Amino acid sequence: MSRPDTSETLTIHALGAHGDGVHQAERERIYVDRALPGDTVTAALRRDAEGLWRGDLIDVIAASPHRVSPPCAHYDVCGGCALQHATPAFYQDWKVSLVRDALAKRDLAPRVWKDPVFLPAGGRRRVTFAALKKGNVVTLGFNRRRSHQVTDVAGCLIIDPAILELRSKLSMLLVPVLKEGKSADVFIQMVNGGCELVITGPMGRGGAPDLVVHEALAQLAHTARIGRIAWRARERDAPEVMLERNPMMARFGALNVALPPLAFLQPTPAGEAALVAAVMEHLPEKGTFADLFAGCGTFTGPMLARGAVDAVEGNPDAVRALEKARGTLPLRVTLRDLFRNPLRADEAKRFDAIVFDPPRAGAQAQAKALAASTVPLLIGVSCSPGSFARDARILVDGGYTLDSAQVVDQFTWSHHVELVGVFRRA
Ligand SMILES: C[S@@+](CC[C@H](N)C(=O)[O-])C[C@H]1O[C@@H](n2cnc3c(N)ncnc32)[C@H](O)[C@@H]1O
Repeated sequence: MSRPDTSETLTIHALGAHGDGVHQAERERIYVDRALPGDTVTAALRRDAEGLWRGDLIDVIAASPHRVSPPCAHYDVCGGCALQHATPAFYQDWKVSLVRDALAKRDLAPRVWKDPVFLPAGGRRRVTFAALKKGNVVTLGFNRRRSHQVTDVAGCLIIDPAILELRSKLSMLLVPVLKEGKSADVFIQMVNGGCELVITGPMGRGGAPDLVVHEALAQLAHTARIGRIAWRARERDAPEVMLERNPMMARFGALNVALPPLAFLQPTPAGEAALVAAVMEHLPEKGTFADLFAGCGTFTGPMLARGAVDAVEGNPDAVRALEKARGTLPLRVTLRDLFRNPLRADEAKRFDAIVFDPPRAGAQAQAKALAASTVPLLIGVSCSPGSFARDARILVDGGYTLDSAQVVDQFTWSHHVELVGVFRRA
């Protein structure tokens, strides 16, 4: 197909995995941003960097029955959400279909589908704002759709309102901190009433913290009640703590963990509770367990109420935090790269159940090792249906059955979704 960059009238047949409407042309697909199955739209066509046809929505000529007015006033410009323009019923079915279709592609279906859990918006406790200082104003927001320009998001519906309130204070307080005309990322995490800020990017006049910056940050921490502030010049650098008024404490069951800067937490407290409940529902009442990709202990803590836990994690800061929190609990903590050096089948055999919750890339090497193990129960938590299905196939080929799956949606209105899958050795 060769098309000039032009506008066309298109009917939309399906929704793609990123929430784009899909028009199926003769031999190629056209992905139309913010369009829904059943819509007829006009769109400006262009090839993207990967060679795919994209349609930038110009007008909806005939609206899909699934179309609604988006609830957020910033939806047209902000790139943070993908699917506010669909009815809740359509949106929820689509989220479930993302998991069902990913499994079906690998010829898999769970014996039981547990009821999906959809969490309300407004609970996001960790967020990274794009920040830009120009004169006496710092704009803190999200990137505009299809652009790197920062858009103000005064009324975001996803984020915890306490973070939004803080954001409005930071627009002033960050003025003496950030470098003129340069962008930075401002990560905010709130847990148990504590709040941390991690700034990534150039600061002060020279790009690195100077005396003025230090003084301004001390003022900022006091005025906005920030517990800890850390800084790094680039994303790949380790954050350097510049000021700590209070430790950032998180409670996971019996574990009281002092979180390191930028610690991974489930994005919403309700999402964390739903995932923990889904895991604990299947974990035996007593036993010896492993928690692989344990982070700072989201699952390890509650699991300790049922027996001894081996927590294995690749991030040294998280491992140190868990070790410090251990006290007299029956917890062993190991720093280990589970991609390169997965827990072997002979090491796994002493466990009654293993929980694994890898990053988006999944746990391919670990799944291969577990497929050869005798562990009776594996509980997988995943934020990527595609990599989960790939790893599930490996486990099923190794003799496990996929007993149940449950969709947990804490990433409201985005194309991201989580699931908990339970595997049993026949
Ligand atoms: C999705 S998070 C889950 C953390 C924890 N289970 C929770 O719910 O808070 C994935 C975790 O895997 C860890 N991780 C990433 N790559 C790893 C690797 N190659 N080996 C071990 N852990 C890794 C990350 O540091 C992170 O803590």
